[in-house]
Amino acid sequence: MYRALIACEFSGIVRDAIQARPGWEALSCDLLPSEKPGPHWEGDVQQLLLNAPNHYDLMVAHPPCTHLAVSGARWFKDKVEEQKEALAFVQMLMDADVPHIALENPISVISSKIRKPDQIVQPWMFGHGETKATCWWLKNLPKLEPTDVVEGREGRVWKMSPSENRWKERSRTFPGLAKAIADQWCAHVEKVYEIKSKESSESQDHTV
Ligand SMILES: C[S@@+](CC[C@H](N)C(=O)[O-])C[C@H]1O[C@@H](n2cnc3c(N)ncnc32)[C@H](O)[C@@H]1O
Repeated sequence: MYRALIACEFSGIVRDAIQARPGWEALSCDLLPSEKPGPHWEGDVQQLLLNAPNHYDLMVAHPPCTHLAVSGARWFKDKVEEQKEALAFVQMLMDADVPHIALENPISVISSKIRKPDQIVQPWMFGHGETKATCWWLKNLPKLEPTDVVEGREGRVWKMSPSENRWKERSRTFPGLAKAIADQWCAHVEKVYEIKSKESSESQDHTV
């Protein structure tokens, strides 16, 4: 079985998309409980990664953007320490002992303080007629290919009226994007391992 860790996910959306793929098991991890039943570890993802080095084949990470998103730039001067901590958390995830990593955030200071994203996608590229720029920082993964480019460019998530749970509504991954992640990045990981195992059996043939 291939193993995926979905870091900082309370919705279970990417987890369930990967779980549905034959040959894969996925675990979501968040400080919050999972909204949907399924394999979930409620706690600090850093602890999980430290306790299980080199355990996962793929990690998809959605770290908090509260102190990083440029949409909140006017408050940055009052949040210097919080931003430092948030960037250290991102760097820890990027450096995790996992061979394939995709880390997601909106347009954020990660670009200037760590590095530019490898790709920026929109929900309308994956079947949802909405805008919400999502940046991906990738390790050993190809860029996602759009799966269903649709009309409609509504900024629904930005128009939501204030409420206690608005951040949750705004941060849930779009299901079309989750399906593309499961189809494309899991397939890529499978291919990498297939090639490796073929190479290793060929080199064993030569040594016999
Ligand atoms: C922007 S939200 C991502 C939501 C995600 N896209 C989803 O669909 O569930 C960031 C999440 O990171 C979680 N989080 C923050 N610090 C964490 C930590 N140290 N370990 C695990 N999760 C953490 C928060 O509880 C929050 O749910």
